[in-house]
Amino acid sequence: MNLDFSVIVPSMPYILKGIFVTLQIVGLSALLGFAWGIVLALFKISRIKPLNWIGDAYTSVFRGTPLVLQLLIIYFGLPQILGTNISPYVAAVAAFSLNSGAYISEVIRAGINAIDKGQREAAIALGVPYSKMMKDIILPQAFKNILPALMNEFITLTKESAIVTVIGVGDVMRRSYQVGADYYRYFEPLLFAGLIYYSLVMILTLLGKWVEGRMRRSD
Ligand code: ARG
Repeated sequence: MNLDFSVIVPSMPYILKGIFVTLQIVGLSALLGFAWGIVLALFKISRIKPLNWIGDAYTSVFRGTPLVLQLLIIYFGLPQILGTNISPYVAAVAAFSLNSGAYISEVIRAGINAIDKGQREAAIALGVPYSKMMKDIILPQAFKNILPALMNEFITLTKESAIVTVIGVGDVMRRSYQVGADYYRYFEPLLFAGLIYYSLVMILTLLGKWVEGRMRRSD
């Protein structure tokens, strides 16, 4: 068997630095995608019909086309319309947030619908305004139930972030691929990248379990 990890040892720090790039993009996209997902979910459950349509159409398009296509359209296509280039980082965060928002909105919508009708009725009967009812009563309860699904989404995002390689972002994936090209040995650096992604996902999983445990205890 022709495997020799010692060859790529000097390049390991270079690949490891990609973790910061990956985490930056994923972290920012998760945050923005979550905020956007809440807005879209509120659109979907709104009594104003056009808002329902916008929310549904948006989700349909962003879930119905490949994420890598959305990324390429934003990075290569949009500059043609805007007349100015977009940095690969901005394009990556934009694509992931817009895409994740669609998925998260469905998760949140389901979470809100699962909250007992009585909660909403009680809030209305007590004269709590809509925005306050959502912010202080419905969403906090919904959040507890959807935590596993949200964690799932963040894990997906972490792994999918590897596609930023195609627009030249130096994330873990691209760096390991570059190292492979340098040494003309791909198996070792790619395996190393796999180990990094797996570790990131494991950390996220544990974090999710921990938050879930804490929330259950606060019940
Ligand atoms: N590979 C899938 C696609 O291109 C992943 C989409 C992203 N998924 C997500 N939950 N944000 O459509």
